[in-house]
Amino acid sequence: MGKLAIQLLFLITFFLVLVSRILPATSQEVEDEADFNYDPNGEKGPANWGRIHPEWGACSNGSMQSPIDLLSERVDVVSHLGRLSRSYKPANATLRNRGHDMMLKWEGAAGSIEINGTEYLLKQCHWHSPSEHTINGKRLALEVHMVHESLDGKVAVVGIMYMIGRPDSFLSSLTKQLQLVAGTYERDTVAGVVDPRNIKIGSRKYYRYMGSLTIPPCTENVLWTIVRKVRTATREQVRMLRVAVHDESDTNARQIQPINSRTVKLFRPEDKDD
Ligand SMILES: *[C@@H]1O[C@H](CO)[C@@H](O)[C@H](O)[C@H]1NC(C)=O
Ligand SMILES: *[C@@H]1O[C@H](CO)[C@@H](O)[C@H](O)[C@H]1NC(C)=O
Ligand SMILES: *[C@@H]1O[C@H](CO)[C@@H](O)[C@H](O)[C@H]1NC(C)=O
Repeated sequence: MGKLAIQLLFLITFFLVLVSRILPATSQEVEDEADFNYDPNGEKGPANWGRIHPEWGACSNGSMQSPIDLLSERVDVVSHLGRLSRSYKPANATLRNRGHDMMLKWEGAAGSIEINGTEYLLKQCHWHSPSEHTINGKRLALEVHMVHESLDGKVAVVGIMYMIGRPDSFLSSLTKQLQLVAGTYERDTVAGVVDPRNIKIGSRKYYRYMGSLTIPPCTENVLWTIVRKVRTATREQVRMLRVAVHDESDTNARQIQPINSRTVKLFRPEDKDD
């Protein structure tokens, strides 16, 4: 073997050792990006969320946690809750990669919903796949959570569930931005003006119950509205929301929580016209 070949061999070995040292360090950093994850057996997984930070205690010891199963026999059908009153408007928004989900955050005033005399301002929406709430034990492909907050800090979340089928027009309108996010590791990507009215509901029926945030700190007394009608999105749309996060996880849905002494109401207008 010539002197040059030996030198080359030495260089290659040196390079390989270097690479093997750098790689684990890099993946460690990616893992540490999120304070919690959805690994069922992991230290930072859902079973341990309540122990990660003292402020996250409700994740383990809360009594009105979300998500829950919406079992039809357990639901009180009512007609007096009133139609979900939405008065949204277009506003500038940012897509944020939170390390465990994609969030669309409205920077400007995007309007509000009104429930029982309280106005809740729309702050953000984010996606879970598969769905977090279940219907008679069945998980669906996707669930969006539209998070609202009143001036005195009360939280109301509207959840809409999707099964695989025809494209969802709102997600279609975000395709370019989501592709941009998938190609970058930046935390924030400008989404431009986004009109929340384009997040379609398509039904006047909804479930109503008191629960919690489904991610740490799992804060309770969240007023939940889950739209009864299951909408559709394509497999590719669901996949794109997950790929954009770069968290090497296929799912970000918390397991079903005990219902305890809570009641779930299903609002159904009397005129049954939908
Ligand atoms: C639940 O955890 C929180 C945070 O650690 C704590 O403040 C609270 O006292 C706990 N509640 C119960 C019922 O154990
Ligand atoms: C969105 O932001 C742009 C640039 O800052 C601004 O010109 C525009 O008026 C904003 N649109 C809305 C609806 O707030
Ligand atoms: C609506 O608000 C009133 C007064 O604040 C309260 O008494 C009532 O229980 C609330 N109704 C529902 C359905 O939450």
